[in-house]
Amino acid sequence: MVAQPEITSSVKEEETTELGLWQQLKEDWIAHGKDWTKPGFRAVAVYRFGVWRMKIKPIFFRAPLSILYRSLFRKIRNSYGIELPYSAQLGRRVVIEHQSCIVIHGDCVIGDDCIIRQGVTMGNRYLDRPFDAPKLGKRVNVGAGAKLFGNITIGDDANIGANAVVLSDIPPGKTAVGIPAKILGSKKSEDNT
Ligand SMILES: CC(C)(COP(=O)(O)OP(=O)(O)OC[C@H]1O[C@@H](n2cnc3c(N)ncnc32)[C@H](O)[C@@H]1OP(=O)(O)O)[C@@H](O)C(=O)NCCC(=O)NCCS
Repeated sequence: MVAQPEITSSVKEEETTELGLWQQLKEDWIAHGKDWTKPGFRAVAVYRFGVWRMKIKPIFFRAPLSILYRSLFRKIRNSYGIELPYSAQLGRRVVIEHQSCIVIHGDCVIGDDCIIRQGVTMGNRYLDRPFDAPKLGKRVNVGAGAKLFGNITIGDDANIGANAVVLSDIPPGKTAVGIPAKILGSKKSEDNT
């Protein structure tokens, strides 16, 4: 089992390097191939704005920004099919490649330089445990259509194969494929073939 504190500490490490909103957006724009028209960049930009606005303490000034954030969030969700609420913890330079059917739980943690592709769902596994959500380390590469459910931890540099359904922790650097996802090259996956 992957030690969860490692992942959260790696995300916290970056959080301490407080970048301004514009600096974050510039990094995200570069990570998205300097193309501001990409739905993924737009979704991340709206997310950054949603997080940034919460730093404005006087409710009088924050309220109009919150209204703007909520309408932009809905626009991104309804136009591009990307649900990325501001309550999730997104690291730096996270790339959302392509669009459509991307659902990210509000309690997810996604580390720096992760790649999320079309059709990816990251959310709770059981209805009666609504706050369980996956935690991704840094540089996790999530293939198209992958589903990650529950309070699971994906280690740094792990690969999640296209259409995998991941229900358990994946150690750093490993590749998981299939339904339910098994780690490539592990005894367990060999036994199952
Ligand atoms: C998993 C992945 C990263 C390849 O990892 P890899 O370590 O190079 O694995 P290999 O290609 O050597 O394949 C190893 C085994 O896993 C199987 N496999 C690979 N990807 C798989 C997947 N997504 N689902 C199920 N099995 C898969 C292979 O068939 C092979 O099986 P075998 O040993 O029985 O022949 C890649 O196949 C993948 O799914 N990438 C996501 C790409 C994507 O989403 N692209 C979207 C572009 S828009």
